[in-house]
Amino acid sequence: MEQKPQATPEDPAKLAQFQARIDAGESIEPKDWMPERYRKQLVRMMSQHAHSEIVGMLPEGNWITRAPSLRRKMSLLAKVQDEAGHGLYIYCGTETLGVDRAELVDQLLDGRAKYSSIFNYPTLSWADIGVIGWLVDGAAIVNQTVLAKASYGPYARAMIRICKEENFHKRQGFEIVATLAAGTPAQQAMVQDAVNRWWWPSLMMFGPSDTDSPNSAELLRWKVKHKTNDELRQRFVNLTVPQAIAVNLTLPDPDLTYNAETKNWEFGEIDWAEFHEVIRGNGPCNRERLAARRAAHENGRWVREAAEAHAAKQRRRSTEAA
Ligand code: 3HC
Repeated sequence: MEQKPQATPEDPAKLAQFQARIDAGESIEPKDWMPERYRKQLVRMMSQHAHSEIVGMLPEGNWITRAPSLRRKMSLLAKVQDEAGHGLYIYCGTETLGVDRAELVDQLLDGRAKYSSIFNYPTLSWADIGVIGWLVDGAAIVNQTVLAKASYGPYARAMIRICKEENFHKRQGFEIVATLAAGTPAQQAMVQDAVNRWWWPSLMMFGPSDTDSPNSAELLRWKVKHKTNDELRQRFVNLTVPQAIAVNLTLPDPDLTYNAETKNWEFGEIDWAEFHEVIRGNGPCNRERLAARRAAHENGRWVREAAEAHAAKQRRRSTEAA
């Protein structure tokens, strides 16, 4: 049986030189030497991020035809189109690490790749669209503004561009939430119900607690991450609680209390069993989301084949012309 090539231990001198570059705050570019483990971690994280953007279009896309006004429809359309662009942009960034996008997409479609747990929850009312913009994109902004300083150049630069659009996503979401929260009793009940359903899954977007995060130590050492999962989660809670208070919404956490000393909003225990169940594929919408992506991929086969045929024709023409 053919022996799998053993991963060669990296040259200690090269590793030390690489770490010195990281510690000096240098940006690592695609053609630079990097430890295989650094490359693998980035492929894992960036491809999952890209998958999340693409799958993230589904819950919101579900409401484009049912938006309550042309203005809301246009704003939601723009947001969903932005998410598609974010996914393609991050796939391009991942390809700079020498991986093939088709392989990454196959990993998603056959269930080998992760994407953010948050997108496995259903969007049951229009209020969900506002709450997703406010909480989910709000959480993404907290995370991605820090990732914009990641040591891997293409990823950091992608984040800078993406964060500009995320800010629009959050603002349009919070406007929907504020409008409903100041609306009729039925609208207030609708938006409060959405907050009740999306609050805890939004906290789960930041990953497991620091004590249960196998990748964080390495990613922090290599300055891919600059903050831990719990630090980012706490920053998100501190930002969001005053916003909920401002629009008279109640966050579904009886343990939420302000600590004047640490200036943190302390919050209750996250249901990690739910988190791990959703990641294992047993969330409310996991099967539906993958089925939708598989159908879209199948329906797009003819486009890929036509593009490939056109490219082959162009290649033949340029060979004949040479
Ligand atoms: N959903 C699914 N999987 C998750 C997860 C989540 N919310 N949180 C953690 N995980 C997985 C990790 O991928 C890892 O599994 P793996 O080793 O098989 O990949 C495992 O749980 C342990 O977690 P770690 O904390 O060790 O993993 P990381 O150090 O990678 O941290 C992360 C997890 C914080 C999600 C980090 O990967 C990250 O910041 N990724 C980039 C940002 C991103 O992907 N955001 C997802 C949302 S995209 C989005 O919000 C789009 C916006 O437009 C709405």
